[in-house]
Amino acid sequence: MSFFWFFVGDYWIIDLGKDYKHAVIGHPKRTYLWILGRTKEMDAAVYEGTLSRLQDEQYDTSKLIRTGVDMKLKEYFESREGKGIFSSANSDGMVTSAIYSKPHVFDDGTIALVMRKRLTYENLKTNPYASYMFIEEGHGYKGIRLFLKKIKEDTDSELIDKMKRQYLTPQEDKAKGPKFLMHFRVDTILPLIGEGDTGIEIK
Ligand SMILES: Cc1cc2nc3c(=O)[nH]c(=O)nc-3n(C[C@H](O)[C@H](O)[C@H](O)COP(=O)(O)O)c2cc1C
Repeated sequence: MSFFWFFVGDYWIIDLGKDYKHAVIGHPKRTYLWILGRTKEMDAAVYEGTLSRLQDEQYDTSKLIRTGVDMKLKEYFESREGKGIFSSANSDGMVTSAIYSKPHVFDDGTIALVMRKRLTYENLKTNPYASYMFIEEGHGYKGIRLFLKKIKEDTDSELIDKMKRQYLTPQEDKAKGPKFLMHFRVDTILPLIGEGDTGIEIK
């Protein structure tokens, strides 16, 4: 198949799949690129072929982000950078939100976060329900919202050490007090905005 160029507003259809199953939309300056499919998942061989033709045309395909494809929560956090906000409330309904690192995702779909004995930790003692919002880095508003229930806490030091923040010295880390690994069941995943399907599976 050869590339062709077709004007649509400021963008160009530069490739069309067999039976119009997918279309590649680009910008002549190679600053924008989309691969749009009619189905949720694109055939892997067709996708790879399309990428290779785009690379021949000097498009930087490394910046493409696959969306709409079913992906596990673990893969989502491994492939995205962004900011996490954890919200919790105590049994009286007093709410707090705080910045938290990306969670550790286990194979059974539960997640864990390292927490110190502060407001969030105290809230979870009297009310196990919480939410974690993750806002992806970059232009626009992309991300997810996880609705959580605390299932257990432990002090598994190996995992806590693995998840510790790099910029604290061991002394500073110790001075901040004990750390707990808080485990949560993920009840629902919603997109950052609205209520549509994220294409992300809990496990
Ligand atoms: C990038 C970033 C990541 C953070 N991650 C965590 C974390 O994983 N666990 C934690 O206990 N505090 C973390 N903090 C610190 C908390 O945001 C901060 O202590 C906050 O005040 C805690 O709020 P809380 O008292 O309501 O729990 C992080 C801070 C930043 C800037």
